[in-house]
Amino acid sequence: MNKLQKFFKGIILLMKKPYLINNVLNTDDSFKSDFKVQFPNSNPLKQISLASIGDLSSIQTVTPYSFLGGSSLITDFLLLKLVCQRTNASDYLEIGTWRGESVSNVSDIVENCFTLNLSDEQLKQLNLSQDYINAHRFFSKEKENVTHLFGDSRTFDFENLNKKFDVVFIDGDHHTDAVEFDTKRMLPFLKSDDSIMVWHDAKSDTETPRYEVLLGIYKGIPKEKHQHIYLVENTLCAVYLPNMEVSSELKPHLKPNHFFEVDIRMKPVE
Ligand SMILES: C[S@@+](CC[C@H](N)C(=O)[O-])C[C@H]1O[C@@H](n2cnc3c(N)ncnc32)[C@H](O)[C@@H]1O
Repeated sequence: MNKLQKFFKGIILLMKKPYLINNVLNTDDSFKSDFKVQFPNSNPLKQISLASIGDLSSIQTVTPYSFLGGSSLITDFLLLKLVCQRTNASDYLEIGTWRGESVSNVSDIVENCFTLNLSDEQLKQLNLSQDYINAHRFFSKEKENVTHLFGDSRTFDFENLNKKFDVVFIDGDHHTDAVEFDTKRMLPFLKSDDSIMVWHDAKSDTETPRYEVLLGIYKGIPKEKHQHIYLVENTLCAVYLPNMEVSSELKPHLKPNHFFEVDIRMKPVE
């Protein structure tokens, strides 16, 4: 099929099924174009290394790690631990509990951990399977220093917690509007100028930016603070991290200048 035939086939399909326009508008290329129009002077690809955030010279243990669907990368959990160590965090909050893996990882080093997720009832109303719903909080439910909060981040009353946080991890709804909303919502809850915000899925793999999320992040953070937003090398995350100077730029397929050594043990669930 030549280009013209493809074009007319596309038009006919769109006339029959107008909702298919979403497959064009919701591609990351389309979010990238929106990003360039809205933030022509921001560079969303500036990147910092994990080693520039914290001490990687000692052995770091990431546990639990399920290797199951919807989980983050090992390096994402490592990053969360490093930012908690860097800020000497006593208070951590995340949006998006899922199996409770991210919050369990930081709960070993942070005294007070809070994690918000849609309630089981809300997940049920979204027609999600009972097995999926039951898997929520699997790793975190028994942790004494983890407080599970239930509700939609758009409406949840965070003021009521009467708390501010050293680290906020945003990993709930990844649509641009939701990321923007969660970011704006949580900024006033950062404890100090040294506090850190982390977003998951700012890349679709460790070398590919995800503009759907990046657009939400940059819309959520005031323009004069955009200089403090970075992607984090070897992870899927972006961070808002003041007082950071070194940065490079994300470029795919560069020669690695380091690698990680991973010891793996499998443990039964108690
Ligand atoms: C990607 S998972 C979180 C993974 C988890 N942070 C980890 O790394 O182990 C996203 C979770 O956010 C929840 N979620 C989605 N939209 C939400 C919202 N608006 N408010 C609260 N939770 C939400 C989903 O139910 C899902 O469990």
